[in-house]
Amino acid sequence: MSLHNSISVRKRHPLIGAELTGVDLRCPLDNNLFERIHSLWMENLVLVFPNQSLNDEQHIKFGSQFGELEVHPSLAHRSSKNREIYRVSNVDESGNIIQSSETAWQYINLSWLWHTDSSFRNIPSKGSILHGIETTKEGGHTLFANMYEAYEGLNTSIKKQIDSLHVIHDHDFIIKQSRDLSKKRDKGSYENLPPVRHPLVQIHPVTGRRSLFLSPHTMDYIVGMESNESRNLLDELIHHATSEKFVYKHTWENDDIVMWDNRCTMHAVEPFDNTSVRRIMHRVTLIGDNQPISTEST
Ligand code: SIN
Repeated sequence: MSLHNSISVRKRHPLIGAELTGVDLRCPLDNNLFERIHSLWMENLVLVFPNQSLNDEQHIKFGSQFGELEVHPSLAHRSSKNREIYRVSNVDESGNIIQSSETAWQYINLSWLWHTDSSFRNIPSKGSILHGIETTKEGGHTLFANMYEAYEGLNTSIKKQIDSLHVIHDHDFIIKQSRDLSKKRDKGSYENLPPVRHPLVQIHPVTGRRSLFLSPHTMDYIVGMESNESRNLLDELIHHATSEKFVYKHTWENDDIVMWDNRCTMHAVEPFDNTSVRRIMHRVTLIGDNQPISTEST
């Protein structure tokens, strides 16, 4: 454990994730505190702040100190009071568990798959801040993979093969992952989101480090590669990046705030019984500052 001003820092995993205590996120951060938290974020990729009893307005204020907040494209999952709050929840705003036959339930299930937030946008999100409001005991925990280390762990010939490749990401590809949703005529109400092209290896704009940019729920195909070859290579990279050694599992407690960097991590949710167990999480999502930086631009 180490002390920086009033903040105590404890690693949650050797490669990714640190817990920060001694800070009250309801209060505005002064410059020193902001810089301290920002540099710990860049160093640890995922920050856990336990026991932060924030309301949505305080959550939005905390997030806004790190940048402009996104409004989620799915109309059904925005909070009706605060459009910056994305409700990652199997419980509706009246407090009832959503029926498994409903589009909103089926869509939220897809957030269990490995992904990085807003990879379907031309400028994906730079980071997300999730508040565990009603958390689960069995399953429903969140897995975070360190994509710098995943890249570093590849052999030189694969790095060479993938360094300049690009991938088409598509919001519709998310929908295709759900057998129920794909069959439905009404797939939910989303903003129009055309497919976008992102590098497979990106350079972090702050740290300058290379990482794998994977978001399996939106990655359709590698540009210029035959379909099977593309799928096999993506699957191989996903399998590698989600090896246990690169992954921190966050076991939720109510009022944890977890903040992650989407430019060098990806995440998934452990399955749980979402037909009867309630899980309410509110997320604010930081708009990225730039398009992902490819290795060709260095
Ligand atoms: C998300 O995909 O951003 C939410 C992760 C979670 O529900 O734990």
